[in-house]
Amino acid sequence: MIGYRRPEDPSCLFIWQVAVDERFRGLGLAGRMLDDLLHDKAIAPPVHTLQTTITDDNLASQQTFRSLARRWDDAPMVVTPLFESAHLTHSSDTAHHEPERLYEIGPPM
Ligand SMILES: CC(C)(COP(=O)(O)OP(=O)(O)OC[C@H]1O[C@@H](n2cnc3c(N)ncnc32)[C@H](O)[C@@H]1OP(=O)(O)O)[C@@H](O)C(=O)NCCC(=O)NCCS
Repeated sequence: MIGYRRPEDPSCLFIWQVAVDERFRGLGLAGRMLDDLLHDKAIAPPVHTLQTTITDDNLASQQTFRSLARRWDDAPMVVTPLFESAHLTHSSDTAHHEPERLYEIGPPM
């Protein structure tokens, strides 16, 4: 898992990448890693908002963050458009790229 605090708002944690070895998926590891990071008392200030980006075809990742929101006091999860396919496609590139959405999760303060 890779993430960083937003420099302009350190209470906002941006998760850049989360991955679990194929052999160990579906065992709750991603959820536990995210929970540990969110609720780590050793790091200050506390996290109030979590952001990440997810493509429309990545059901496992969508579900991982939906489930995290549920555990985090049923926090609302707001999904907004970020990059459309056209933004991710180079003129010499024939591959299709799914749009990336910005996911923002955080319980009301
Ligand atoms: C996304 C990923 C990190 C999830 O890791 P994981 O350890 O298997 O996830 P967990 O076991 O903690 O599951 C979290 C939730 O997502 C659900 N989930 C996991 N994989 C799923 C799948 N393939 N389809 C639907 N739901 C899925 C689980 O049921 C669980 O929901 P619940 O808490 O309501 O039961 C893993 O699938 C992965 O490494 N994918 C490839 C890398 C990737 O796409 N990363 C995200 C982009 S940054």
